Amino acid sequence: MEIIRQPNAMTSWSDEMRDAGRSICLVSTMGFFHEGHLALMRKGSEIADEVVVSLFVNPMQFGPQEDLSSYPRVFEKDAAMAREVGVAVMFAPAPEDVYAPGFQSRVEVDGLTEQLCGRSRPGHFRGVTTVVAKLFNMVKPHFAVFGEKDFQQLAVLRRMTVDLNFDLQIIGHPIVREQDGLAMSSRNSYLDEEERRQALSLHQALLLARQRVEGGERDAVRLQEELGGFFKKFDRAEVDYVAVVDSENLNAATVINEKSLLALAVKIGKTRLIDNTLLMG
Ligand code: PAF
Repeated sequence: MEIIRQPNAMTSWSDEMRDAGRSICLVSTMGFFHEGHLALMRKGSEIADEVVVSLFVNPMQFGPQEDLSSYPRVFEKDAAMAREVGVAVMFAPAPEDVYAPGFQSRVEVDGLTEQLCGRSRPGHFRGVTTVVAKLFNMVKPHFAVFGEKDFQQLAVLRRMTVDLNFDLQIIGHPIVREQDGLAMSSRNSYLDEEERRQALSLHQALLLARQRVEGGERDAVRLQEELGGFFKKFDRAEVDYVAVVDSENLNAATVINEKSLLALAVKIGKTRLIDNTLLMG
């Protein structure tokens, strides 16, 4: 596996691959890999000849009170894990090479970014779309795989790709869970023992919701209220949102149907976790 640090060197590598007729899949990450990341890399190998993993803890997508400085950084371990699953290149640029002196541009998607996580993390999606647009230009992939745990991020990046005519295909990958149901996330490592136990409340809420819908519940507002009450049983849990939305446009739903997605953001102690499920099917 090659480790590339300079954006120009990354683009030259990709140009060579493209000239040789090799397809490239980008898996963008902020590192601290777990099985969820590895699943995205394996998916990349299934659909493309070469997998490039970017590792960049993007300062632009963190709010001032968020965990940029404490975000876990374990480069050597990550590199070994990526090598193990057959990644061709780990692209790990320095912040000053991504945002060179004088940098003044932003990529912004309206609408889709205004609800759910966009409401409680102002500027977050602007940071994500700006860096991912830059990564698309630097890596020039044919495909890019993103996890469905960050459902809103995936929807926003699909929109950006269409709106800005990026010539690549976005692939969503199903949520990868721990054996007990907790969605895998680098931030799970922040949880202490009791918080880890209470973090299961997110998955339990999703299961409860699906059970209610299977039992005939179609009223989105009533379901949200019930789930709000469910989280009150967990003293370390503080709900940011429990929202039933249309999975295509992320607008709030009132009646539950095949397109309805339940999205959750809940703080467990100081750690903000997200999860989601389609409610039918
Ligand atoms: O999902 C993430 O890890 C990040 O938001 C991403 C897509 C790598 C952009 O920094």
